[in-house]
Amino acid sequence: MTARLDQLTAPVEVGVFYLVPTVRGEWKPYGVRDWPVIGPRHNDRHCLNFDPTHYHLDARFMPSFGRSDDDWFWCQVAVAPLQVNIRLNADGLPDPIWKRRKCRRTENPYTPQLMEQVSRNKGFQCLHDEYAGRQAKHDGRGWVCPHRAVPLADHVAREGVIQCPLHLLRIDAHTGKVLPREGA
Ligand code: FES
Repeated sequence: MTARLDQLTAPVEVGVFYLVPTVRGEWKPYGVRDWPVIGPRHNDRHCLNFDPTHYHLDARFMPSFGRSDDDWFWCQVAVAPLQVNIRLNADGLPDPIWKRRKCRRTENPYTPQLMEQVSRNKGFQCLHDEYAGRQAKHDGRGWVCPHRAVPLADHVAREGVIQCPLHLLRIDAHTGKVLPREGA
């Protein structure tokens, strides 16, 4: 049986198939696909000043297009502040549909260059400062990001920290507290 992401109690594993939420749309030059998405449909007016309603791509389940830099590419697409926003059908993004997808990577590898960019971005600083010190809720499986209520049970912790893949809040894997941004 294929497990649904929202039922997992441990991080995803590479090579395993899961049922993941997807949204259909055209994204040039990759054509029409059911793209894996993560978190709710939302806008980022607050702090990040990004108005369009969007989903975020889930880099863990992005297909391989035979690129030699496949991991790097999808992770940049999914994490970089502006490209992170998938706007496939700008008007009326549909509800996600659960589809079977293979896990190709366990997380978005946050490159030092990307983290450097984020740490200098005033919008991210505003968001991260506002949430620092907040207590994440536990949904019985794992911590839930207090920003957009994204369940994090299926995400890996690195050195005791889970980083929310949407807007990169850092959460203490043991206590569920949102950590201050690095350099604050
Ligand atoms: S949903 Fe925004 S940081 Fe988690």
